[in-house]
This record gives sequence, C-alpha cells and structure tokens, in this order.
Amino acid sequence: MPNHSDSVIRNNICLKLTEARVRTLLLVSSLSEDDLHRQHDALMSPILWDLGHIMHFEELWLKRNVSGPIEFSEMPGMYNPFEHPRATRAALPLPTLANVITTAAEIRSDVLETLQHAEFRIDHPLLADAFVYNMVLQHEYQHNETILQTLQLKLGSPYAPPRISAQPRAGKASFDRMIRINNGEYPIGTDDRSHAYDNEKPRHTIRSAAFEIDAAPVTNSAYEKFIADNGYGRKELWSEAGIAWLTDSGAASPKYWQRGDEGWNARTMDYSGPLAPTDPVCHVCYYEADAFARWAGKRLPTEYEWEIAASWNPETNRAQRFPWGDAEPNRLLANIDQLGFSTAPTGAFEQNVSPLGCYGMIGDVWEWTSSNFNGYPGFVAFPYPEYSETFFGSEYKVLRGGSWATRAGAIRNTFRNWDYPIRRQIFSGFRCARDV
Ligand code: AVJ
Ligand code: FE
Repeated sequence: MPNHSDSVIRNNICLKLTEARVRTLLLVSSLSEDDLHRQHDALMSPILWDLGHIMHFEELWLKRNVSGPIEFSEMPGMYNPFEHPRATRAALPLPTLANVITTAAEIRSDVLETLQHAEFRIDHPLLADAFVYNMVLQHEYQHNETILQTLQLKLGSPYAPPRISAQPRAGKASFDRMIRINNGEYPIGTDDRSHAYDNEKPRHTIRSAAFEIDAAPVTNSAYEKFIADNGYGRKELWSEAGIAWLTDSGAASPKYWQRGDEGWNARTMDYSGPLAPTDPVCHVCYYEADAFARWAGKRLPTEYEWEIAASWNPETNRAQRFPWGDAEPNRLLANIDQLGFSTAPTGAFEQNVSPLGCYGMIGDVWEWTSSNFNGYPGFVAFPYPEYSETFFGSEYKVLRGGSWATRAGAIRNTFRNWDYPIRRQIFSGFRCARDV
C-alpha cells in the first residue's frame, strides 16, 4: 500500500489483526477442552498448541523484535516448533483455552498500542512497508489451515464446522481440456516488500519450452477412473519412492475415501456422501498425483509452469498477482477462506480463470508440482532462516494455489507452499501438464 498514509495502514492492520483472531476463535468455538488438548494424529499438534504458538509468534515479532534487535527465529519455550516436534506436543503443560485467550488478548493490547506509533516508510527491515505485521497476519492464517487439517483428522465425534456460507453450484463452462502455452521468457516470483515471503523473491525471468497444462484440477470422477483402471495396482505407473509409499501405507484411494455399496463416498469434516464428481480430488499425496499423471499420458507441471499458467497475461505482457487480475481475493472470486468447508464444483467461480484460460488455480486444493523446494537465484533469507531456508532441498515438493481452507490473505500466484511427497492430510490435489 505504498500510497497510503501511515495512519490508514495502521487502521487497516488493526482491523485485519482483529478479524484474524475472530476467525481463529470461530474455528475452535465448538470444541471441548479435551478436543483442544488431545493429539488427534501424530502428524498434527494439539490445537491448543497452535493457538499458543500463534500468540507467541505475535509476541515475538510485534512486541520484542519491532522494538529491539531481532532476537530469535522462534522464541525459546513450549511453543517453539523446533524444540518440540509435533508428535510430542500433547505431553507439554498446555494451558486452558480461556487462559490462552486471556494471554493472547494481553499481547494484542500491547501490540495495538505499539501499532498506533508505528511508521512504515522508514529504513527498518521489519517495519518498512508494514512487512512484519503482514507476516504475523499470514502466520495466523496459515495456522488456521493447519488447525483445519487437524479437525479433519479429529478423533471422537467429527468436527461440526460453523456452516455460515453456502457453496455455489457448478457453472456451465467446461474445463475438460488442456491449454497450450508458448515457449518464451516469463517472469517468476515477486519483489513485493509488504507481503511476500523470502522464498517468493527475487522476481526473475525463466525460459520455458512450450507445454500444455490442464485447464482445471483433476476431478474426483477422473480420479475414480484411474482407480477403476487398477491405477494403484499397476507398478509401472509409480515411481520407486511411490511404490515404497504404496507398500508402506497400503493406500488404494485418496485419504477419506470409502467404498460404499454404490460407489465411492468421501468425508469432509462431518459430511460423508457420494463423491462430488466435478469437485477437484483432494487429499492425495505427491506420489498419487505423479502416478495418475503417468496413467493419463501426462506429467505434473513444474512450479514455474504452474505460475506462468496462473499469472501470465499475454495482452498486457505482464504477470498478474491473481488469475483474475490484481483484485484482492475473496469468497466471490474463488473457493478460498474456509467458510465453505469443502471443495466446490469445477467452474463454480466464473471469474476464477487466468488470462491463459486455466480455471481454479487459486482455491479449492493445493496443487502438487514436480519441483523441489529451493531458493530462487539471489535468494536472501528474511527475516529468519527457519521460515523457508531450513526446508530447502530435495525432501520437499512445492504446492501452489491454496485450498478452500486457505485464508484470502495467505494466497497469491507467487505463493509457495511445500510438504513431504507422502503427505495427504493437507488439502492437496493437482493438475497435469505435458510437453508439446
Ligand atoms: C508453509 C505450511 C509449510 O506449517 O510448516 C507456519 C507455515 N511456518 N509457521 C508450516 C508455517 C511457520 C509452514 N508451511
Ligand atoms: Fe508457525
């Protein structure tokens, strides 16, 4: 917001911080203290840990680090993710929800006090362009999605989401085709200083060969055909690591699918029912996506190909921040921001089409790419190496585009997520590509 005065930015941040906390508390409002403290799955933290960690991250960055030297990457103690791996967090002396809410409110009150004097057009690494406030906001947003992954795994009675928004029906347009994208030089990443994470920077140009990419994410019905064609049984479709995962997991369908008398059912939170045929397939791991692509005579796109397809506008000769243009995302433009609590039919969001013709690149499901998570040329860790740099290497695959569970403020065409290729408790799907 380079043209806005500091006071406009302060008000804007104040409202966003408030709204972020309202959402966090809404998501957990129906849970018992036991639900909040319990380890629902070894992959996930007790939800109370996420809540405490959100508040500690805010305390570290918006109280300590804005006034003094940047002390820690993550604050020492109970809520430091590196000191306490997820599977061990239920053994920590976590406080009650009421206790966390009180402490978080005290921290917030100090933060808002400091915010009233903050200046953003100064030569300060954290405060310039209000970066650190936007980072803390995005951190809370990202942990909201983590909490929703946990709630989908919830033990005992399934999570009953606060359903206060309806999901739209399918639109008329069909996206069952591939889009050809010419060879050429394309910009990747961003130099934005107000919101972008270090791993999205710097903006740079890459040379891409011509390729084709699916106009929409792979749907449940397409994936069902792969299963019916013995996709999980045909070893030639799977990579070596994929076969190891198959053997280890015994998987034969996406997570949360169950075979019913009349075909497959899927569960999303407290809703179980027949597969929605035109919704993007969700809860598949990288190896499943990779095997499906081979079965279809295709491959997964690289993250660069994905970003070109989402952002490149051949009319204006520039990359857009979102498929629909530069307007900030909201629940009318794409299936994001959680409150639909599920994927939506392909084509339901008519404006969610990139200039090159790809539907749904933002929202519904995170899309696996074939790329490992690495720094762009000229990468500089900022403001702490443990956000991105610690995870660089061949262990993680990049996912793009956000899911229905991603908050609007935590997604854009340049945003890079990453996870282990075996993970599928995340809201993950994919689309395919091929050489031409
Ligand atoms: C970007 C989703 C991989 O959850 O590990 C949260 C986000 N970083 N707190 C994660 C994050 C620090 C991160 N991912
Ligand atoms: Fe975190």
